[in-house]
Amino acid sequence: MSSSAPAAAIVQSPPAESRLARILGSSIGQKLVMAATGIILSGFVVGHMVGNLTVFKGAAAINAYGAALRKFPAVLWGVRFGLLLSVGLHIWSYLALSVKSWGARPKGYRVTSYKEASLASRTMRWTGPILGAFVVFHILHFTTGTIHPGFAYISGDVYHNLVAGLSYAPVAAFYIVAMACLALHVFHGVWSLFQSLGFSQPRYDSFARRLATLFTIIVVGGFVLIPFAVLAGFLKLQ
Ligand code: HEM
Repeated sequence: MSSSAPAAAIVQSPPAESRLARILGSSIGQKLVMAATGIILSGFVVGHMVGNLTVFKGAAAINAYGAALRKFPAVLWGVRFGLLLSVGLHIWSYLALSVKSWGARPKGYRVTSYKEASLASRTMRWTGPILGAFVVFHILHFTTGTIHPGFAYISGDVYHNLVAGLSYAPVAAFYIVAMACLALHVFHGVWSLFQSLGFSQPRYDSFARRLATLFTIIVVGGFVLIPFAVLAGFLKLQ
């Protein structure tokens, strides 16, 4: 008779793994994280765009709006922290899903076949980092006034900073390019959200596409009006 231990005794129990870790390790969990953080970031973008449009009501209106946002520093920093966490988790879920899809791809796979070969879907990996770089530039430009000192940043005078900052054509052009990237990213993001939520049947395609188009036009259209209005001389320093 063999002296080796019975098979059941040598089977090691799997390492204790929390439920959350298991969900976050799964593709479905990662897609949910990407969708949830995408919704949070889109909510911020919509709110920011609507707030920015107060510039068309004049300096007093947008400066009062800016002052209201700074009135409760704890809330402001809470929102900033939430946004930063959302951006971090959004990038993490993208990387985790990409690593999985590279691992699943058969060796020698060379022909690129795009299931949904739109420009927006193919450029997600570029529009994301460009938007990240834009947000860093943008905060140093309008929130801290450190990156473009030539326009004489005035702390708290949002109207002056906005109009003076965007009066310099190369900077306004960068904003317009960044908004084009935002359009591509948001369009594909809304489309993908539908897929992640399970509406991937062809009968939902045209609805998802229309909703993504409408959302993109409203949000990006609202943002891009401002650099164009400054360049056209419609918004002037007061
Ligand atoms: C033409 C487009 C845009 C204009 C004119 C604009 C304008 C501004 C202004 C004036 C501020 C500073 C407000 C203050 O005085 O504190 C600001 C802050 C900010 N913007 Fe924008 N924005 C634009 C697009 C965007 C986009 C597309 C994003 C995100 C994808 C974004 C993200 C932010 C963030 C994160 C801050 C910092 C908020 C904070 O202080 O915590 N902006 N923006």
